[in-house]
Amino acid sequence: MSTAIVRIVSELRSIVAAWRREGLRVAVVPTMGALHEGHLSLVRAALAKADRVIVTLFVNPKQFNNADDLAAYPRTEHDDAAKLASVGAHILYAPDAADMYPQGFATQVSVAGVSEGLCGAFRPGHFDGVATVVTKLLLQSGADLAFFGEKDFQQLHVVRRLVRDLDIPIEIIAGPTVREADGLAMSSRNARLSLAERRTAPRLAEILVQTVDRLRSGEAVEGVLSEARQKILTAGFSNVEYLELRANDDLAPIGRLDRPARLLVAAWLGQTRLIDNVEVTLPKCAAAVLQQAAA
Ligand code: PAF
Repeated sequence: MSTAIVRIVSELRSIVAAWRREGLRVAVVPTMGALHEGHLSLVRAALAKADRVIVTLFVNPKQFNNADDLAAYPRTEHDDAAKLASVGAHILYAPDAADMYPQGFATQVSVAGVSEGLCGAFRPGHFDGVATVVTKLLLQSGADLAFFGEKDFQQLHVVRRLVRDLDIPIEIIAGPTVREADGLAMSSRNARLSLAERRTAPRLAEILVQTVDRLRSGEAVEGVLSEARQKILTAGFSNVEYLELRANDDLAPIGRLDRPARLLVAAWLGQTRLIDNVEVTLPKCAAAVLQQAAA
């Protein structure tokens, strides 16, 4: 099966309207292209839950706070279309920037709270750009379900919040981070790593997992995190933008592991910024004590 490429929103809308008349369930998977197994796993999850799947491909200028980063972003539409055909996606929606943001475009979606801190602190304007384009893509596709990866965990929270706040009638479904065999989280940015950097990169996930074990064993959060930051630097990363423990359900900063949490990191390896995160479940005994206290 080949995947139809659609560039114009009115065309997308009339296809989706025809699907709806047939009573079909529609899913959308927003991407910026350069598709890897992480994206394809979301497409497969979408195909399992919906009758028709739209994958969007739009390198959104509004979410890049650095012009060089935008220029260097890989653009591989031809290969992406072939990958999507191989998994059975129905439509690749790849609008032009001039159609997404025509002359006079003046609206911005800005999500307070969950956009602040973590990546939001280091990439000013990034989440406004993400929130604005995701709002447009969800409304343009009119899908019933939308799939986002947990790799961009803060982005997932931003999207959930905007969908709730703006009453967009769509269900947001998260897919787990897909990793290379050595543990490195898949990302379109991994292609920018030199051979030596690629050998160092999996240390990030390894240190996250070791840190999660120490946190779950009851060690004090701040001491464990500061040792982990040092380990990341010693491994060869040039800068750790953040390594933080946050609540899993609302991203609130937490100083002790008394609720299900996430350990999130952003660190630079040469010219490449890598992000990753790992879930931190409560150890069984702590969960039981907290449940008793709440009863
Ligand atoms: O995660 C991404 O690829 C992008 O941030 C998204 C959600 C497609 C918006 O441009």
